[in-house]
Amino acid sequence: MGVVRTIDWQDHHIVAIDQTKLPTEVVIMEIFTVEDLVDAIRRLAIRGAPALGVAGALGAAMAVRDTPPHRDRDLAALRAARPTAVNLAWGVDRVLERLPDGEDAVLAAAVDLLETDAARNRALGERGADFLARHVDGVMAIQTHCNAGALACVEWGTALGVVRSLHERGNLRHVYVDETRPLLQGARLTTWELAGMGVEHTLVVDSAGPSVLARGLADAVVVGADRITANGDVVNKIGTYPLALAAARAGVPFVVAAPESTIDPALASGADVEIEVRDGREILGALPETATLNLAFDVTPADLVTAIVTEERLVRPAAGERPA
Ligand code: MRU
Repeated sequence: MGVVRTIDWQDHHIVAIDQTKLPTEVVIMEIFTVEDLVDAIRRLAIRGAPALGVAGALGAAMAVRDTPPHRDRDLAALRAARPTAVNLAWGVDRVLERLPDGEDAVLAAAVDLLETDAARNRALGERGADFLARHVDGVMAIQTHCNAGALACVEWGTALGVVRSLHERGNLRHVYVDETRPLLQGARLTTWELAGMGVEHTLVVDSAGPSVLARGLADAVVVGADRITANGDVVNKIGTYPLALAAARAGVPFVVAAPESTIDPALASGADVEIEVRDGREILGALPETATLNLAFDVTPADLVTAIVTEERLVRPAAGERPA
């Protein structure tokens, strides 16, 4: 996708790719109000943990331009737009620390998060590629779930940042992409990014994900995360946990690539994380009166997580190491 940023700040407003329209159309949204930003986040036009962190930060910078009652209402709505990715509220709170220095200081902090996203992702991508090169012989095949690419960040990506690094090194032969029901972030977004990168890839339905590993087709699983708790439990898109189980059974590394901002030291374990439950109408194929439980995320226990790579460090939860 070249140098187009997933989310950006231009002429006092947010400019972002509408991810609901991909891969058929690249539509750029111009967002001038916190209300419209919250709507874009809720319908996943802007999504993915690091992108949500930047959206929270830029949204807070917009909110503080308003009078205190509106400001407080907007900030509360922004923080609560989606509950599971810690990055959203983190982005809001992080830039609000600068409010005593004025609105411009809040905006400068938000723009700093935006501008430094790519460097963070490149660093964690290199660390992940180094780790995999030590644990997998030869040119490797990777399996991934959901979209943890440039579209989930500002640029470059986390799990796909690792994939990019392996590709640049000539150390990648294939990527298996889970479709990621029900909103198809894998089928619509990850395949689009991999095609743009010139990486060979194959799409499978989510329920085939574990069989890809059982058949020995992938040498490692690499995914992103929405929240990593103090004990190393990883909360990520629904369907990640079965892949971790299958990776353990197949004896291949299960690697989580995420920025430090995704680590939540305040929560002891994945059991403490609020898991977003979305509208059942997103699950197609049933009679309208059918009861649904549309869980958007699951928890992969720390003992199944071979490695977490961040821009600063490598943590091995399965070996008893804790991120916080
Ligand atoms: O519901 P989404 O599309 O926001 O879920 C995104 C994921 O689960 C990603 O894997 C996660 O945010 C990491 S993105 C670098």
